[in-house]
Amino acid sequence: MPADEYLELNRTNWDSRAVIHAQGYDIDRLLADPDALSAVVAFDRPRLGDITGLDGVHLQCHIGTDTLSLARLGARMTGVDLSGASLHEARSLAQRAGVDIEYVQSDVYAAPTALDGRRFDLVYTGIGAICWLPDIRRWAQTVADLLRPGGRLFIRDGHPVLNAALAMTVGAEHPDREQQPWITGPGGTTVALELSYFERPEPLVWSDEYTYAGTDKVAQPRSMEWNHGIGEIVTAVLDAGLELTSLTEHDSVPWDALPGFMVLDEDVDEYRLRDRPERLPATFTLTARRR
Ligand SMILES: C[S@@+](CC[C@H](N)C(=O)[O-])C[C@H]1O[C@@H](n2cnc3c(N)ncnc32)[C@H](O)[C@@H]1O
Repeated sequence: MPADEYLELNRTNWDSRAVIHAQGYDIDRLLADPDALSAVVAFDRPRLGDITGLDGVHLQCHIGTDTLSLARLGARMTGVDLSGASLHEARSLAQRAGVDIEYVQSDVYAAPTALDGRRFDLVYTGIGAICWLPDIRRWAQTVADLLRPGGRLFIRDGHPVLNAALAMTVGAEHPDREQQPWITGPGGTTVALELSYFERPEPLVWSDEYTYAGTDKVAQPRSMEWNHGIGEIVTAVLDAGLELTSLTEHDSVPWDALPGFMVLDEDVDEYRLRDRPERLPATFTLTARRR
């Protein structure tokens, strides 16, 4: 695969999704109330702390709903994304909300150059972000390059265990079910680890006609993804010279990641396994500080 083939494929995939997501995301609610926050940022708020007056960059900001929410919490925000169509929607949202946000089109790895070497107090990213990047160590070094000394990273993203999981039908009786009767029996459906948990050099190639928000078909359905294990993420962050300040695993995720198996918790607008949610880490929050 030529080095940037994945960038072109993923950029056109996200361009196709942006128009659909502009209808499918909760934009009317954000515009109706100048204090409203996206469900993602509302979930993050207790761990995010006070961001008033910070210079923040939102990597892989997509159509800018979370970027706008961070600006509403008082940060001066810049959003970076590969997809021009996503940024078109993000600029339109910021303008309609009357909030000043700078948006820059760039691959994450090229962000320090695209942002002219500017440094930030906060790098915020996540919710379906790092799975589009082949090399987690390069990502962590990019984050370190974007932070001022004392600046911090905040990421909440899909958990690599969730990214490795698929729903499957159980074929045979498991001997341990005699002792642990809640184990799924023959004919039942359960969650199995079928995809890579650890980072692999080769991408996982998908072709999905529909996206997770909105109802229209995606014009360019192909994309390439990579998974990164929790240990790989933490080690990459530490090796980039950042100090780990917290790592929390959550049993919920903002999108219906395993359709038919998850239920919506309306209090937080997140999905978790209907049956025994304690089995599956669905997202994680990692915070770190540049020394
Ligand atoms: C699921 S969205 C991320 C999220 C945001 N949390 C949201 O849901 O609005 C993924 C975003 O990553 C962007 N993206 C994918 N690969 C990228 C790359 N290499 N550099 C910058 N942005 C990238 C896509 O264009 C897309 O807007």
